[in-house]
Amino acid sequence: MDVFEAVSTRRAIKKFDPNHKMSSDDIKRLMEHVILSPTSYNQQNWRFVYVTDQEIKEKISEAARGQAQPKDSSLVVVLCGDMTAWKTNPVRYWKHHPPEKQELVKASLERKYSKDTQAQRDEAIRSCGMAAQTIMLAARDMGLDSCPMVGFDYDKLANVINLPEDHLIVMMVVVGKRTADAPKRGGQLPLNEVAFENSF
Ligand SMILES: Cc1cc2nc3c(=O)[nH]c(=O)nc-3n(C[C@H](O)[C@H](O)[C@H](O)COP(=O)(O)O)c2cc1C
Repeated sequence: MDVFEAVSTRRAIKKFDPNHKMSSDDIKRLMEHVILSPTSYNQQNWRFVYVTDQEIKEKISEAARGQAQPKDSSLVVVLCGDMTAWKTNPVRYWKHHPPEKQELVKASLERKYSKDTQAQRDEAIRSCGMAAQTIMLAARDMGLDSCPMVGFDYDKLANVINLPEDHLIVMMVVVGKRTADAPKRGGQLPLNEVAFENSF
């Protein structure tokens, strides 16, 4: 599917076929493309919990205040940030490059994040946002649909996925086969209200 078509046909779908399954090859293909999404310094500070187990999907629906999308979808991806990524053997983020480059990145990461937990959180949110859009567009190419979600009880979801310390749940994206179209778009703001050429 053409990228512009994927962008314009992606909608937040609410009703999914609970009997539709994604093959493990399709899930692998999806996730292998998701990790090609960009991250600052290529620090790959995202961690994905991809849920296929029906019982766990049902627990996620409960944590999502009864919303049906997780339990009816074929796949739930919980996108989390690892706030320690900047210091966890960071030379591996540039393993295909010379040691000088690796050391440069390591020093930059240390400078930017070591004393700034807000920066660690912000970066996790940016990285997961990029990855979420990749999931949703790739799903369209696979003939599937998606719904991004933050309507959940954080602590309950953290408990369901066994969230490690120093990790942050950013959002989840469910993927599946739609059984009902989205209602018509809420209505986009005019382009000239939100986009400015060269400066505000
Ligand atoms: C960060 C984020 C969180 C969202 N959380 C939910 C949610 O919990 N449940 C839901 O049904 N839709 C959720 N949505 C979907 C939005 O309501 C939807 O994207 C928006 O209304 C625009 O519609 P569209 O995606 O079909 O263009 C969320 C979207 C985003 C980007």
